[in-house]
Amino acid sequence: MKLNLPPHPFLQATAEGEAALQGEVLRIVGKAKSVADLFAGVGTFALPLAHKARIHAVEQDKSALAALAEAAKTPGLKPVTTEVRDLFKLPLGPAELKGYDAVVLDPPRAGAEGQVKMLAKSQVPVIAYVSCDADSFARDAAILIAGGFKIGPVTPVDQFLWSSHIELVGRFVRS
Ligand SMILES: C[S@@+](CC[C@H](N)C(=O)[O-])C[C@H]1O[C@@H](n2cnc3c(N)ncnc32)[C@H](O)[C@@H]1O
Repeated sequence: MKLNLPPHPFLQATAEGEAALQGEVLRIVGKAKSVADLFAGVGTFALPLAHKARIHAVEQDKSALAALAEAAKTPGLKPVTTEVRDLFKLPLGPAELKGYDAVVLDPPRAGAEGQVKMLAKSQVPVIAYVSCDADSFARDAAILIAGGFKIGPVTPVDQFLWSSHIELVGRFVRS
């Protein structure tokens, strides 16, 4: 698959780290047929997931989504739709989340407090939450757990060499 990167794209820190995150996200999403990828960037998760599921990718960076949409035309992939949207100001609400078998969430360091509050009120059964900040992840995980999700496993991916930062992938399922 060919992905034409836009100027200043967000990319995961290392190829090995990216592969580990993709593997974990694919495992959590499992056999879901319809997936929302929130904070999707250029499609690090949306594109591999599109081999087996329809994807709705949401992100505020228009050029990242344009690159994703172009790559998603690769023959053999399931349909991928894209939406330019500020998820801090306007998170997807419970009605919009209806019908997704799984949601992938990969916000910046600030986390996704507004979006997880909506997920906590939704009927989404499975969430793969990728985080580069343990503090905002813990805050958001508490909101999801209070909303009826069970957490676990949480997999650390040590992709920020020579730094105390850690990437996490958390699995949340409705109990
Ligand atoms: C940690 S990156 C993850 C990108 C992608 N999932 C990946 O792994 O390559 C976070 C993404 O969130 C996007 N973003 C930041 N603030 C946002 C907002 N308020 N609404 C929607 N997207 C936002 C950034 O442009 C960036 O692509």
